[in-house]
Amino acid sequence: MTWDPAQYLKFADHRLRPALDLLARIDLDAPRVIFDLGCGAGNVTALLAERWPEARVVGVDSSLEMLARAKGAHPNVEWVRADLADWAPDQPCDLIFSNAALHWLDDHESLFKRLFDHLGPGGALAVQMPRNHRAPSHRCLADTAESGPWAEALREILRPAPVAEAAVYHALLCGLGAVDPDIWETEYLHALTGANPVLEWTRGTALRPLLDALPPDHAEGFLAAYAACVAHAYPRRADGVTPFPFRRLFMVASARIHSKDTGNLPRRHART
Ligand SMILES: C[S@@+](CC[C@H](N)C(=O)[O-])C[C@H]1O[C@@H](n2cnc3c(N)ncnc32)[C@H](O)[C@@H]1O
Repeated sequence: MTWDPAQYLKFADHRLRPALDLLARIDLDAPRVIFDLGCGAGNVTALLAERWPEARVVGVDSSLEMLARAKGAHPNVEWVRADLADWAPDQPCDLIFSNAALHWLDDHESLFKRLFDHLGPGGALAVQMPRNHRAPSHRCLADTAESGPWAEALREILRPAPVAEAAVYHALLCGLGAVDPDIWETEYLHALTGANPVLEWTRGTALRPLLDALPPDHAEGFLAAYAACVAHAYPRRADGVTPFPFRRLFMVASARIHSKDTGNLPRRHART
């Protein structure tokens, strides 16, 4: 799948807010080793480096296009190309951060176990994933994909509900030994403007793998049918605003500190 950083960053302000809300719930004062998984164009990775200037901060992504953009904008951060499906860090982590990326991967039970195992004592896993797969924007994707000459080509690519309910992740993280996982959901109301802004939004994300899988004539037909569906599902108000509700799931889970883990731990402050 190819990414287009410029298309993705068209809604940079809207997409940044959940990353900031996640960042605000991380209670580490002095993490020394931080990985940002699915770092994309690197704008959030740069914020991690700004908040913890003493830390080694590494952005990890599989997209050459996104990494090129990240490297160009933030040459002082470390960037690594890897597939998160089999990624492992080169040292234990104090913070594994991931904003809007892990929903692209399957089998969250083994993925979260693997990531949690990479934390050092007292380290934290902080993740945000969209959980809007039943929203009209995604129902339109599924309905359009299933009802055209492209249906066969798209059957394997549609991912109906990649993110489970909050309680599923809570049980999973508690089972891994996380201390009191902090999990919550938020539905943002993005006030978008422009001709068919929900189409523009999904063009930067969920539409990409489907368009990538189609020959140009089918891609064009698919896009036109999807555009009509979302324009109808998200009508523009008289004042030019298209409200776009968007639900996201957040979690911050910390690894236990055992009595043998003395010294050299990431310090944490009390949460309010
Ligand atoms: C929606 S963007 C989020 C970018 C960034 N975290 C942010 O908040 O702006 C998702 C990113 O996840 C990356 N990604 C998706 N699947 C991946 C995988 N299996 N391995 C590595 N990166 C992946 C994509 O390349 C893309 O850059």
